[in-house]
Amino acid sequence: MKKLMAANWKMYKLREEAGAVAADLAARLAGVLPEDREVLVIPPFTALEAVGQAIAGAPGLALGGQNFYPSAQGAFTGEIAPEMLLDAGCRYALAGHSERRHILGEDDAMVGRKVAFGLASGLSMILCVGEKVEERQGGQLESVLARQLTAGLAEVAADVSPAALAIAYEPVWAIGTGLTAGPEEVAGAHAVVRAFLVDRFGPTGSKIRILYGGSVKPGNAGQLLGIDNVDGVLVGGASLLAESFAAIVTA
Ligand code: 13P
Repeated sequence: MKKLMAANWKMYKLREEAGAVAADLAARLAGVLPEDREVLVIPPFTALEAVGQAIAGAPGLALGGQNFYPSAQGAFTGEIAPEMLLDAGCRYALAGHSERRHILGEDDAMVGRKVAFGLASGLSMILCVGEKVEERQGGQLESVLARQLTAGLAEVAADVSPAALAIAYEPVWAIGTGLTAGPEEVAGAHAVVRAFLVDRFGPTGSKIRILYGGSVKPGNAGQLLGIDNVDGVLVGGASLLAESFAAIVTA
């Protein structure tokens, strides 16, 4: 299974800069991208075309969308459909990112609808889960992950292709804070996710990638990627510069 190295650019970068950083990233990785790594760039919608053009033809690099509404089309002002992401060159999309859950108010049921609809539309889905600091301190890590995974995967078929689904474990307290979960915390949470996936999907569950996200940097990526059940990373801040993201990808 290839490790999935994903750059979530959130609400950063205008088209020109996005295209230039993506082209720089592709150039830095040309010929040195390890065989066992797959790279995903997830820019804001307005920069999808520029980034898609910049990475077109670069082996191992793919494009993803940060969000969509779970309907084929319709009167949903301000929203975007999965087919529009596919049309813009996306192969992947995120659902359930903590910023959408906690700032935009998306609930577990909506996240589940997005995962199911995205898969049915032909996107590969990355379902993000993770606990808040008070939930971890209150001993609720396992119950929060179980709730988010149960709802997020509620309508996913038992025979889903493992290539079409990934889980990103992103503890809310480690996102953008400089606090990275320690190796034992990451190993523990990823083991919980793995056990859930195997229980839910049988042997397929051991082939679904589990990414870690939360203050991943060039200096900690190698150690994180060496932890059991860490099958990739989802990087925010440190993915905004080609130099630091390329260093993470090759760590
Ligand atoms: P940071 O890498 O900036 O902590 O963000 C993580 C994240 O939210 C990726 O989706």
